[in-house]
Amino acid sequence: MIKHFTSSACKFLTLVLVFALTSFTSHAQEISKDAAAISAGQALFNANCKACHRVHQKLVGPALAGVYDRTPSIDWIKSFVKNSSAVIASGDAYAVKLYNDNNKTQMTAFSSFKDEDIMNILAYVKSETDKGPEKQPDAGVQPAGGAQAAAGEGAPSAYLNVILVGMIIILILLLVVLGFLVTALKRFLDQKTLSEEDKDIVEPAVTTGSIFRSRGFVFVVVFITAALGFKAVINGLYSVGVQQGYAPKQPIAFSHKIHAGQYEIDCKYCHIGVMKNKSATIPSVNICMNCHNQIKSGTITGEAEIGKIVKAYETKKPIEWVRIHNLPDLAYFNHAQHVNVAGVECQTCHGPIETMDVVRQHSLLTMGWCIDCHRKTDVNTKGNAYYDNLVEIHNKTKKTPMKVEDIGGLECSKCHY
Ligand code: HEC
Ligand code: HEC
Ligand code: HEC
Ligand code: HEC
Ligand code: HEC
Ligand code: HEC
Repeated sequence: MIKHFTSSACKFLTLVLVFALTSFTSHAQEISKDAAAISAGQALFNANCKACHRVHQKLVGPALAGVYDRTPSIDWIKSFVKNSSAVIASGDAYAVKLYNDNNKTQMTAFSSFKDEDIMNILAYVKSETDKGPEKQPDAGVQPAGGAQAAAGEGAPSAYLNVILVGMIIILILLLVVLGFLVTALKRFLDQKTLSEEDKDIVEPAVTTGSIFRSRGFVFVVVFITAALGFKAVINGLYSVGVQQGYAPKQPIAFSHKIHAGQYEIDCKYCHIGVMKNKSATIPSVNICMNCHNQIKSGTITGEAEIGKIVKAYETKKPIEWVRIHNLPDLAYFNHAQHVNVAGVECQTCHGPIETMDVVRQHSLLTMGWCIDCHRKTDVNTKGNAYYDNLVEIHNKTKKTPMKVEDIGGLECSKCHY
């Protein structure tokens, strides 16, 4: 009877397991693992989707890792990518919930995409999903804010924590050893007959009060307080002049989330200096007016904020934007060198600007931050004849790819006038 029961339970469990496994992987099975499909997909993804999606990170749209497992079907993805508003309008429950969960942000329609294009993109997304998130993210592409601690100048406070914990452990160990000594001594004394006077010394009436007044206790408290105070002071000193997270209020409520995110206006359309010059430049009122002589009212702020642009244009008074990123005069930083020559993405240094209503400083902008990246980053030598010689010399002496530090990226004079 029992045997019969266990064997049928076994069958049932196997069935459930098989069912769970197949339903879990069935969508993903259709997706190609072919390298050509993956690289075609990557190109399409970078050109069309990257403005709003990453594989492992939420941007304007959801992170796409494993999307083929959570959406109703592969066909659903095809229709959604070709025309998401049609799918949402059809009342599809998954699509409607997704749309609402994403603040009703409209995804671009890719009506000219073939099924094959979308399958290639999924092949790329799946290969990235299987790889998992990058272990060692470079200076920039991390969720905003605190996660930055791993980079550069976060180290001192990490060391201090370790030292502090180490000291506390040593203290506790000392107390334990002392405790052992005391019990051992007591045992030893117990075996002897003591005079009344000696007994008083060996077995004092231990009260809570006497513990609090004991030298050891006072020492421990003073020590911990002093160590914490010391740590706070050091932390304070290290963050002098560091403005990570700085996000001042601007004279006009300009939103990168609307312009660069929702409407996908290219960063270079407004920050015109970025490919040729040291400075990226803040757009003049004229650039705003290219669009805002037509668009006079915003969905969120109505005419109030756009009205200020028109007023500045008519009175020829420049808008007084508050500067956010600001290196001291002693340091030299050039945008064209990083964006144009090296091909570093804006987001690597500035974070997901296209999701920010108010721009905030994403990176530390300390010397350690610059140096850290110059140590880690390969020089982009592709199609740049200037580097051919250097690469040849480099490859003769070293096995690792040529990093920025190998072309002088750590020399003081490169960054300091
Ligand atoms: C303008 C920004 C934008 C672009 C560009 C964009 N998407 Fe989206 N995508 C979204 C948003 C926002 C959502 C969430 C649904 C919604 O709000 O409509 C989404 C949802 C999705 C979903 C469903 C995700 C889920 O969790 O179920 C898929 C799949 C998807 N997008 C694929 C793509 C592909 C492929 C491309 C490029 C060909 C692309 N998207 C380009 C913004 C965008
Ligand atoms: C429609 C024009 C426009 C577009 C497109 C645009 N920006 Fe901006 N950006 C501005 C304006 C105006 C400011 C100044 C006001 C502010 O800080 O929000 C600014 C400020 C910034 C700042 C801070 C500057 C400082 O004071 O330190 C950064 C960084 C930045 N933009 C990066 C980007 C990136 C990256 C993109 C593309 C993803 C982009 N911008 C797209 C107009 C634009
Ligand atoms: C390439 C076109 C384009 C340019 C250039 C442009 N904008 Fe806009 N802007 C838009 C669009 C589209 C909207 C959305 C209007 C809506 O909400 O329906 C918008 C909305 C706004 C809003 C209102 C947001 C809201 O919803 O209330 C403000 C404020 C604004 N822009 C400021 C600026 C400033 C300042 C500049 C110049 C630095 C600028 N824009 C440049 C296209 C542009
Ligand atoms: C390698 C890191 C890095 C990259 C990549 C980068 N920036 Fe910057 N950006 C900086 C630093 C550092 C500053 C502060 C410069 C200063 O104060 O002299 C800055 C300042 C700015 C400013 C305000 C001051 C100015 O130069 O006008 C804007 C706007 C800006 N960046 C936009 C962009 C845009 C747009 C991109 C991409 C096309 C980009 N940045 C790419 C590091 C970077
Ligand atoms: C995201 C990585 C990254 C960050 C952060 C970064 N750089 Fe760079 N930097 C590069 C790369 C890559 C190059 C190589 C460009 C080339 O091929 O010429 C470079 C080159 C340079 C050069 C030219 C070096 C040479 O030998 O020609 C200078 C100067 C420089 N960076 C200054 C800075 C300063 C100052 C900062 C900090 C405010 C900084 N960089 C932050 C990646 C970075
Ligand atoms: C890759 C660029 C880069 C290189 C190389 C570099 N520095 Fe710096 N340095 C900076 C930046 C950026 C700052 C400003 C940091 C800040 O404001 O926190 C700075 C700041 C400083 C300061 C001011 C004190 C401080 O920490 O704010 C001194 C002193 C200094 N650097 C010395 C040097 C010396 C000496 C060398 C050569 C061994 C060197 N730097 C190499 C980028 C660099």
